[in-house]
Amino acid sequence: MADRTKLIAGNWKMNGQRADGLALARALAEKAGQQHACDLLVCPPFTLIATVAEALAGSRIEVGGQDCHPLPTGAHTGSISAEMLRDAGCRYAIVGHSERRHGLGETDGDIHEKALAAWRAGLVAIVCVGEIHAEREAGRAVSVVEGQIIGSVPHGAFAGNLIVAYEPVWAIGTGLTPTLEDIAEIHGAIRPHLPAGTRILYGGSVNPKNAAEILGLDEVDGALVGGASLKADDFWAIAQACR
Ligand code: PGA
Repeated sequence: MADRTKLIAGNWKMNGQRADGLALARALAEKAGQQHACDLLVCPPFTLIATVAEALAGSRIEVGGQDCHPLPTGAHTGSISAEMLRDAGCRYAIVGHSERRHGLGETDGDIHEKALAAWRAGLVAIVCVGEIHAEREAGRAVSVVEGQIIGSVPHGAFAGNLIVAYEPVWAIGTGLTPTLEDIAEIHGAIRPHLPAGTRILYGGSVNPKNAAEILGLDEVDGALVGGASLKADDFWAIAQACR
């Protein structure tokens, strides 16, 4: 049977200098020594990956990057390759986060290439999808997300190299969340498009208060957490909400 152990992943985004990142990583490593029922991952900014990976060594908390370039090396000023992430201590790479799809104009095709790059480097690709508010209002959330999955997830995916994160754009950083029925509907619609056992995370304003009911949904295999991942106590409380 497929292992769909829940995964709680922290996306630190563009937050943290070395002292903050190290303090957060150390606090999490200490907590992760206690009993917990989920897998744990943190995705620091590029500058902190090596430091955080070192601080988390032996803790069972994995480290991921927030993006990667499709190519392994070359003249791409300002970019980081999947191989560089791996070398710095990552096992995962987020690709297609809405702040890159909508903020930087990344297309499904770009994300498809980045997912392939993650696999080439031996990383698990966390492919993000999610509708904007107008698409939900127009009753198009399911078709938009299905289209993003079909366009972004390359052939060759299996439960061991792919995780999908459903993050409605309007729920990210806003304190708003879809109803539990809406989350279950989207996760249920995505699953037939994915290899058996693929974990589907929910993301968008997950916090210690709403984590238990969201993570209690059968179709939800974990959470991608932004703001609440920057406080060790909050991130840990969300992890503790996994049954
Ligand atoms: P949020 O961000 O938890 O702050 O809403 C989630 C994300 O963007 O991954």
